Amino acid sequence: GAVPVLAVDGPTASGKGTLASQLAQRLGYHLLDSGALYRATALAAQEAGVPLDDGEAVAAVAATMALRFDGDTVWLAGQDITDPLRLESTGGLASKVSAHPPVRQALHALQLSFRRLPGLVADGRDMGTVVFPDAALKVFLTASAEERAQRRHKQLLSRGVEASIDSLCADLRARDDRDQNRSVAPLKPAKDAHLLDNSELSIEDSVAQVLSWWQPGT
Ligand code: C5P
Repeated sequence: GAVPVLAVDGPTASGKGTLASQLAQRLGYHLLDSGALYRATALAAQEAGVPLDDGEAVAAVAATMALRFDGDTVWLAGQDITDPLRLESTGGLASKVSAHPPVRQALHALQLSFRRLPGLVADGRDMGTVVFPDAALKVFLTASAEERAQRRHKQLLSRGVEASIDSLCADLRARDDRDQNRSVAPLKPAKDAHLLDNSELSIEDSVAQVLSWWQPGT
């Protein structure tokens, strides 16, 4: 049969990344952080001097970039981009390039190539709706904007970065707004997604909840 996929979608800073990587670890599955592909595309386009509003040109960059994942390290054309990839500013640029249909098209096949035995946990915005519509389980993760801003604030502080909660909250809302209202693959739950609001849940509770829903091959 097909390689099982567990799709985790949701807005910025909802905890998708942490949840997906813990699930992959627990299940012994591969992990696709699809946001990292859009982030890397934005960095590669910038590096090449390609204007981010030129969808076709950015798509050409996406289709040819030499991206390599090596554990927690990410390489682009032989350069370690692990740190710049995670910057808030890079997330904003990723949100811009991801709105271009040709860019999404260019990254489609690359995303499918992560689907290998014994299985895949994929996190992003359109894993359950567009890229893996046949996923065995689709989870749509949410948390209030305030809670997400608090978490992002804590995460940044731990890296020694100062930021106001209000401005983080405003940035999150702007990014959510752009992701939800674009014409292609807008952020929305798949019809058959399980909704999970983790505002009040620990990461362990969230993992346990998703695993209780997980029954591949049935
Ligand atoms: O999840 P992350 O914050 O890394 O994603 C960065 C941006 O990439 C998102 O704001 C979104 O615009 C875009 N993205 C997307 N589709 C995905 C994953 C990310 O459009 N599957």
